[in-house]
Amino acid sequence: MFSKYLASTIAAFLGISNAACNYGTSEFPREPNVPASKFSYTGLTGPLNWYGLNETANAMCDKGMNQSPINIVTTNATITHGASVSLNIPSYPGGADFENLGTNVEVVVNGTLIDANKTYSLAQFHFHTTSEHRINNEYYPMEIHFVLEAADKTIAVVGFLIDFGPTDPLLSSVFASVSEIPSPGNVTLTGPLDFSILQYHLTHNTIYRYEGSLTTPPCSEKVKWIIGTKPLYIDVDTYKEVKKVVKFNARYTQDGLGQANLLENAATELNR
Ligand SMILES: *[C@@H]1O[C@H](CO)[C@@H](O)[C@H](O)[C@H]1NC(C)=O
Ligand SMILES: *[C@@H]1O[C@H](CO)[C@@H](O)[C@H](O)[C@H]1NC(C)=O
Ligand SMILES: *[C@@H]1O[C@H](CO)[C@@H](O)[C@H](O)[C@H]1NC(C)=O
Ligand SMILES: *[C@@H]1O[C@H](CO)[C@@H](O)[C@H](O)[C@H]1NC(C)=O
Ligand SMILES: *[C@@H]1O[C@H](CO)[C@@H](O)[C@H](O)[C@H]1NC(C)=O
Repeated sequence: MFSKYLASTIAAFLGISNAACNYGTSEFPREPNVPASKFSYTGLTGPLNWYGLNETANAMCDKGMNQSPINIVTTNATITHGASVSLNIPSYPGGADFENLGTNVEVVVNGTLIDANKTYSLAQFHFHTTSEHRINNEYYPMEIHFVLEAADKTIAVVGFLIDFGPTDPLLSSVFASVSEIPSPGNVTLTGPLDFSILQYHLTHNTIYRYEGSLTTPPCSEKVKWIIGTKPLYIDVDTYKEVKKVVKFNARYTQDGLGQANLLENAATELNR
């Protein structure tokens, strides 16, 4: 008998996760307990089969033609001076909640982004190891994503690549307690957080811009990406602690903007 219990278990297993990279926005409101991800980065729950986990909800993962992450080719990227962008995140001298969502570790803080006269509210920020975006084909050890949503539900993500070097005080304070959240569902507090380095970077350096998608299911498009051209830094020992907990969580590089979706293209070729 294909019981209701079995059906709901399968639905729960295959369902799209609330730990998506837009967790905390109106599409996936924050839950009282930390929800672990249903998708992963390996095998049949990994990026090659996110569409198969829910063909309705995750249609764009296989069919979208403006998917993220991309290889940013600096000679043709839209590069603007950061002074036009205002990212305002208050300090958290007492630290902020730091959660392990299974596919990610996430910090919950408030803040705003003002860009092109539109105000976006910060939902959370999280990390990818390795980086998801590449710059002229080069990958970085990590990437940080600040996920924001405007009143009209438009999503913007402000990202910075993270390279090896002396750890920036902000990252050092975030990761001071990463070893306290080794398992999905674990929550702890970060050290004191001061975000002024981010606005400094955005104001004093250029930024890349493009319109892409969420890099996790449901891979929704029309996401405004703003990526700093100057990386943040992490030292090797801290990186080893972080990757022990975060593990590998980078979606593969998508095709160029407006080009064929790589999965749909592969399916077509196999069916010829
Ligand atoms: C797939 O997603 C749709 C739309 O979000 C939802 O209604 C449905 O319950 C999901 N199906 C499964 C099996 O999770
Ligand atoms: C964010 O702001 C809301 C509304 O002012 C407040 O209720 C909430 O506690 C704040 N959260 C954090 C993490 O600062
Ligand atoms: C923002 O608003 C100002 C004043 O209305 C206007 O002059 C300017 O062109 C707007 N900028 C953008 C990027 O929309
Ligand atoms: C982390 O989660 C695991 C698995 O649920 C649990 O056994 C452990 O007590 C949690 N640790 C902390 C510090 O919350
Ligand atoms: C840059 O150009 C390449 C080759 O034409 C294209 O595939 C890629 O999508 C472009 N990148 C951006 C950010 O526009």
